[in-house]
Formats: sequence, C-alpha cells, structure tokens
Amino acid sequence: MSFKTLAAYVLKRTVDFKKSQIILRGVLILYSWMGAIGGTFESIKFEKITPQHCGPQRLNSGWVDKSRSSCAARCLARFGTCHGFMYNEVTKLCTPSSGLSAEQSTPSKAEGDFYFSDSCQSYPDFRTKYNQSTQAHVAYYSSPPVNYTNAKAACECMNSHLYVANTLEKWWLINAIVNIDHHVFIGLDDMAQENKFVWADSHQEISSALKIAMFYLGQPDDSGGQDCVWKKPHNVLLDDVKCSEPAGYICEKTLC
Ligand SMILES: *[C@@H]1O[C@H](CO)[C@@H](O)[C@H](O)[C@H]1NC(C)=O
Ligand SMILES: *[C@@H]1O[C@H](CO)[C@@H](O)[C@H](O)[C@H]1NC(C)=O
Repeated sequence: MSFKTLAAYVLKRTVDFKKSQIILRGVLILYSWMGAIGGTFESIKFEKITPQHCGPQRLNSGWVDKSRSSCAARCLARFGTCHGFMYNEVTKLCTPSSGLSAEQSTPSKAEGDFYFSDSCQSYPDFRTKYNQSTQAHVAYYSSPPVNYTNAKAACECMNSHLYVANTLEKWWLINAIVNIDHHVFIGLDDMAQENKFVWADSHQEISSALKIAMFYLGQPDDSGGQDCVWKKPHNVLLDDVKCSEPAGYICEKTLC
C-alpha cells in the first residue's frame, strides 16, 4: 500500500477531524520509520567476518539487545558511522563499530561475532593523499613498529596491500604520507625469489630504472639476508632490510 492510499483511507474513515490528524500523524511516523528501516536494510549488508591483525573501531561499549538484527538497526539509527557491530548470541551484548583499523584489537570472546559492511567508509584510517596529479588512498601506521609479515597481514585485514611505489611520482608521494623520522616498510620484497623484488599488489618485478632511481647506491645488497624494503628516516631513498626488523608501514587501497 502506498502512503497516499493509506492517508486517504484514514481520512475517509475518520469523521472527527482532530482524531484523523492524530491518526494520520501516527501513520506518517510509522510509515517513515518503516521506510527508514526498510531503506537501510536494502542498502547495507552486514557479513560475518573474522578479522586478523586488525579490528573494529568500537563506537561505545555497547548494550544488551534482543537480536542480531535489532543490534544492527540500532547501530545504524544511532551512529552515522556504523559500518559494523559485534553480537554475542549468548549474552546478547551488542557492540557498535565504525569500521576496521590496524590500531584496534580483534573482537574478544565477550564481544562475540563481528558483522561488517564493506564500503569505502568502512576503513576510518585511510585518507587520499595528493602530490599534484598523483594520488593514493592510504593509511600510515608508525606505532608500535611491526615486522614485515605483520605489516603485510594488517593491510590485508583491511582489504588493502602495503604501499606500491611503482612510479617516481608515487615514490615521491611517500614524503606526503610518512613522518620523516621513521623507518617505513613499503610493499616490495624478494622473499619468493632472491633479487627479484616484486610489488605487493601485482607481484610484478620492479623495473631496473626504478630500482636505480629509488634505492641507495649499491642497494639492494641482501647483506645478511635482507628480503624486505624500507624507507629510512630523512631520506626518500630505499634500502633492503631483514623482514624481521620492526618498522612503520603504509597500507594502500584502490581509490574510492
Ligand atoms: C611532489 O613531487 C615532486 C616531484 O614530482 C617533489 O619534488 C616534491 O617534493 C613532492 N612533494 C611532496 C610533498 O612530496
Ligand atoms: C613477525 O612476527 C611474528 C610474531 O608476531 C612472527 O610469527 C613472524 O615470523 C615474524 N616475521 C618475521 C619475518 O620475522
């Protein structure tokens, strides 16, 4: 039944005008409420996922809610930034969240299962950085420093990959992203095959021209088994390093 038919029906059947106004308002409120909920459920789909190496950004400590769908509806109604929620089927604890971040812990047993709606807005740490016509959608993490395996896994948890500086422009853009005092991993390593450095997204080998331009002179040299690549402090030049070394890292997503 459309809203017009519903309103006409109410008006026709109600003799007393005042009463009809009240009923009409009641119908209006009910209808818009149904519309809001219906619309929300149509466009937002939550899927159960198990994040590892990143976690949901909690919006508050949660409340007890009768069902998972009621938890979802309330999260959406209360928070414009609701992109996920946790629900414990036993205790019925409902914890709203804005999205995935590498700085957050994975859902605890008490919080329960995590339901996530994957969209451009579901990763609050990511920003678009520009240098003239070059742009990248990135999140930068510097503390605590982590090894390459964990940095890579954290990016993958947020449906992204370690930063791919596969043009001179994107290499320069690193300056606009990181704190110059830090060591920072990028998505380039020769773990699979010695001296074949491949990018994190395409697994394509770096061109020899870029390798010459971007690395310190005489690097990469694999000194003592260095299979990963970082940018050192106060210089945009790259060096190879042991993958077990702790460092900051940049995650990159395809542009939204
Ligand atoms: C932007 O890129 C140019 C080279 O194309 C470079 O000289 C400049 O330092 C870069 N700016 C920043 C903020 O990274
Ligand atoms: C990184 O640390 C994790 C433990 O947090 C360990 O399992 C992994 O082997 C380490 N990776 C490297 C390359 O050292």
